[in-house]
Amino acid sequence: MHPRRALLYMPGDDRRKIEKATTLGVDCICMDLEDGTALRKKAEARAVIAQALRELDFGTSERCIRINSIGSGFEHEDLPAALNARPDTIVVPKVETADQVIWTSQQIEKYELEHGLPLGGVRLLIGLETARGVLNLSEIASADKRLEAIIFGAEDYAASIGATRTKDSIEVLYARSAVITACAANDLQAIDMVYIDFRDTEGLQVEAQQGAAMGFAGKQVIHPAQVGPVQQAFTPSDDAIVYAKRVVETFQANQQAGKGAYDLDGKMIDMPLLKNAEKVLERARAAGKA
Ligand code: COA
Ligand code: MG
Repeated sequence: MHPRRALLYMPGDDRRKIEKATTLGVDCICMDLEDGTALRKKAEARAVIAQALRELDFGTSERCIRINSIGSGFEHEDLPAALNARPDTIVVPKVETADQVIWTSQQIEKYELEHGLPLGGVRLLIGLETARGVLNLSEIASADKRLEAIIFGAEDYAASIGATRTKDSIEVLYARSAVITACAANDLQAIDMVYIDFRDTEGLQVEAQQGAAMGFAGKQVIHPAQVGPVQQAFTPSDDAIVYAKRVVETFQANQQAGKGAYDLDGKMIDMPLLKNAEKVLERARAAGKA
């Protein structure tokens, strides 16, 4: 799966920001038709995105378009326009039911068939950001095999449950954990919330590290300055990689010697710790390390 340590948004009508994004070495570039684009700019944004995808070199960055939500009324124009622009990936925000995932995937499949494109080639990511979405997570996460990741939207979620956002984000902890769990159970990537205060690098680092420790694969970002710190937080450190390799090696040796659990530097190692070490190495490889 494509690494998604950082997913950078910009308003779809802002060509300058799209150009800037292609110079940053960010894992995912998400050109937005939804809330980042003013209501009266939707048509212009569709055209700007299409032209940018024709003209710009995105390097290895994933080329994503976020359409408006299913049921907003915009989706009937957004989705065909987005598909005609030939992105790697469609992002659907505010998903609340499995039917919305299935409907979107079927529309994409129809398009692929009509245009002779490889079936299942266009990737699908969804935003989970309402109370109803969280309640329906298990059906949503297993609704369609095109789905690769679920993106948690904290601001919309807080609004949907009537919570006030706080620095430690305790009010969204349940939903974040629910998204991670649903993703883990279905081999999807979980992408964490935006850190809105984009000039506060220290706060961003703390929140990104917390997200990585909770099990998220990446985080949404809204400003170029957030890309580096976030991609670093979601890349295993050199020390973590060395340690994970030692766990894997020593585990095999101990298994052969007939020991399921053993002591490594004063810590007990057994099967769950091996699995954890393998996850670390998998993430390191996805990030081009190890
Ligand atoms: N993507 C790409 N480039 C961006 C960017 C983004 N999200 N945000 C800022 N930049 C660029 C600016 O264009 C500017 O480039 P320049 O020096 O070539 O002119 C540079 O980075 C510095 O920007 P800065 O002046 O610090 O920020 P700003 O005042 O222009 O923009 C925001 C601040 C918050 C409006 C802007 O970051 C933004 O639009 N973010 C994305 C919002 C969005 O898409 N929301 C919906 C999804 S949550
Ligand atoms: Mg939102």
